[in-house]
Amino acid sequence: MAGELDGRVAVVTGGRRGIGRGIAERFRDEGAKVAVLDREVEPIDGVLSIAADITDETQVLAAFAQIGEELGTPWALVNSAGIGPAVPFLELGVDAWREMLAVNLEGTFLCAREAARAMVAGGAGGRIVNIGSQIGLKGGVELAHYAASKAGVHGFTRAIARELAPSGINVNAIAPGPIDTEMLMGMPDDWLAAKQAELPLGRFGRVEEIVPTALLLVSPVGGAYITGAVMNLSGGDVMAD
Ligand SMILES: NC(=O)c1ccc[n+]([C@@H]2O[C@H](COP(=O)([O-])OP(=O)(O)OC[C@H]3O[C@@H](n4cnc5c(N)ncnc54)[C@H](O)[C@@H]3O)[C@@H](O)[C@H]2O)c1
Repeated sequence: MAGELDGRVAVVTGGRRGIGRGIAERFRDEGAKVAVLDREVEPIDGVLSIAADITDETQVLAAFAQIGEELGTPWALVNSAGIGPAVPFLELGVDAWREMLAVNLEGTFLCAREAARAMVAGGAGGRIVNIGSQIGLKGGVELAHYAASKAGVHGFTRAIARELAPSGINVNAIAPGPIDTEMLMGMPDDWLAAKQAELPLGRFGRVEEIVPTALLLVSPVGGAYITGAVMNLSGGDVMAD
């Protein structure tokens, strides 16, 4: 049976685990040639795993060069690599602030730029999906640095969506609510209890509840008329247009 992404090249950062892993495996199952780019790698069936730190421009350039040589021009990039340790604002040091911005925002920029350069050179358009966050929309206790990075990702998404539209490259963000991954489970217990209590759906989300939206956004037909959107998948925690 033909897959939604048959023969297309897709790159997923942070694809070793969590949301990125779910997306990478689904894209592979839809027929894509998938490269996962992560600072820690482990073998994933049928996927090219590349060790790279997305905050390091040299490593990002080398990773995209390798993808171009081994798989071809990317059709899709999903920026899922990210970090999220909570720090009370009064204790937030400049190093923790900078690291958060470096991974979540600058890393997203570097990978998006390299993917877009390859897509424009290839001349066949493409899709970029950045994983933002509900925290970037509504804020979150002990997450000032994270909220700033994710609100930055949302703004960045809209800016390059405008700039890349003439090249046939659609750019969107997904802003998930709390999703049951190792990142979320690294949050303090009292934070998790308070977060769960404020969710209209009364539970954390699951990776498989994010994956279909990522697939829609990179889909050649289904995603063709969506660009500059920040898709709110927050279990009802954020209710806004
Ligand atoms: N889990 C949630 O509740 C939630 C909610 C909203 C948004 N998000 C966002 O979704 C994305 C994925 O989150 P997750 O829950 O799957 O996290 P995760 O911690 O399970 O996975 C993140 C992956 O990113 C990789 N990574 C981290 N820093 C990197 C770097 N500098 N270079 C390369 N790879 C790096 C890690 O090795 C890991 O494999 C993140 O951007 C996160 O901010 C998560």
